[in-house]
Amino acid sequence: MTGTTVSIHGMWSTRLAFILAAAGSAVGLGNIWRFPYTAGEYGGGAFVLIYLLCVAGIGIPIMMAEVLLGRRGRQSPINTMRALAEREGKTPAWSLLGWMGILAGFLILSFYSVIAGWTLAYVLRAAGGAFAGIDGAGSKALFDGLVGDGERLLAWHTIFMVLTVMVVARGVASGLERSVRWMMPALFVLLVVMVVYAAWAGDLGAAARYLFAPDFARLQDKAGEAVLSAMGQAFFSLSLGMGAIMVYGSYLRRDASIARSAVMIAATDTLVALLAGLAIFPIVFAHGLEPGSGPGLIFVTLPIAFGEIPGGGLFGTLFFTLLVFAAWTSSISILEPVVAWLVENRGFTRVRASILGGAGAWLLGIACLLSLNLWSGYTLFGKGVLDLFDYLTANVLLPLGGILIAVFAGWVLPRSATLDELGGQDGVAYRSWRFLVRYVAPMAVTLVLLNGLGLFKAMGLG
Ligand code: TRP
Repeated sequence: MTGTTVSIHGMWSTRLAFILAAAGSAVGLGNIWRFPYTAGEYGGGAFVLIYLLCVAGIGIPIMMAEVLLGRRGRQSPINTMRALAEREGKTPAWSLLGWMGILAGFLILSFYSVIAGWTLAYVLRAAGGAFAGIDGAGSKALFDGLVGDGERLLAWHTIFMVLTVMVVARGVASGLERSVRWMMPALFVLLVVMVVYAAWAGDLGAAARYLFAPDFARLQDKAGEAVLSAMGQAFFSLSLGMGAIMVYGSYLRRDASIARSAVMIAATDTLVALLAGLAIFPIVFAHGLEPGSGPGLIFVTLPIAFGEIPGGGLFGTLFFTLLVFAAWTSSISILEPVVAWLVENRGFTRVRASILGGAGAWLLGIACLLSLNLWSGYTLFGKGVLDLFDYLTANVLLPLGGILIAVFAGWVLPRSATLDELGGQDGVAYRSWRFLVRYVAPMAVTLVLLNGLGLFKAMGLG
């Protein structure tokens, strides 16, 4: 029993198309915006090391599980989980995993679109020569001017959401697949150019030491929090835990290797994150900027470089344009699960479903962008709406989704089913995967979650 062989929503034309689409989902603001500043907040190397361990030991096995579930179910995550559970005689309540993913998707897309709006604004600034000869303080003032202006943020947020809806509305093959085919290679080339420039104009040695020499003393009493953030970053960056990769897996043909695809996607994603670090931190150190300065990091540091480099106006324009594309190929994957569900269960056309889903995330996004200015006084746990959505999704909802995906693939699905999906070879590779999703991933993620959220401390054990 292998389920239907195609999805009603369409299919990727080749395995490469799937890898590009999933890598397009994975590579995004998480790599170039979120990874460097999060690593900076936890002092660099030690965080990076923990991050790499999370990608290899937890991220790749869970990605394989997520693709596998999607391909076996061939529907939106909600319906896939229900169908697979019922097929095994288990409770249909497993569909709640899909619902949690939809919630996480709305929260992520709402703030993701606001940040992507910053990158849109920066395309125009670069093109208009706003970075010429700018220094650290000037660049910071320029950034604060944008973030403090709610109306401008709203305009860019709206434009980005419309772009996202437009691609998703066009469908799997002519929307999702077509958009990633050239954007991904172009982004990669530009990032390499940026690293070369940063090495020449900045302090590459300091950056490399910062990123690759783990200094655990820097974590101090924040170790539990740092491990949770590294794991959350891995889930976020690999697009795991909410059904985005699951729904992409549902469009994958049966003869494609899931393991090899997952390794390639995760390797690409990690390489891009590290390259982003090597493009940004040399400039940070050469200009005496603060690596732990938070979400504004790339928007403050990179313009300084673009302001000095010959042809920087052009490079800057290109770079932020590609960042928009990277964000775009990710945002479409965040919207896709709910759109697939609306089409399956509500009988909506794809166009209507995309508009409705996009509108919901757009509304939530308004709360996010207001939290940066007008509502900056309102906080919960010391965080405004945008930071709260970011924290709650990456560090709580996605890991929870990941635990459930691993448990389902490791314990609920019979061994024969996963063995069949993963190529039928009962060797070391399959056995290691199964061990990781049955034991290592669920336990490690649970421990990191509880510890990072301070539960052990609250019980007097920490
Ligand atoms: N991975 C993307 C990034 O790094 C963001 C993203 C796309 C995502 N789809 C997702 C995050 C699903 C979590 C879940 O920018």
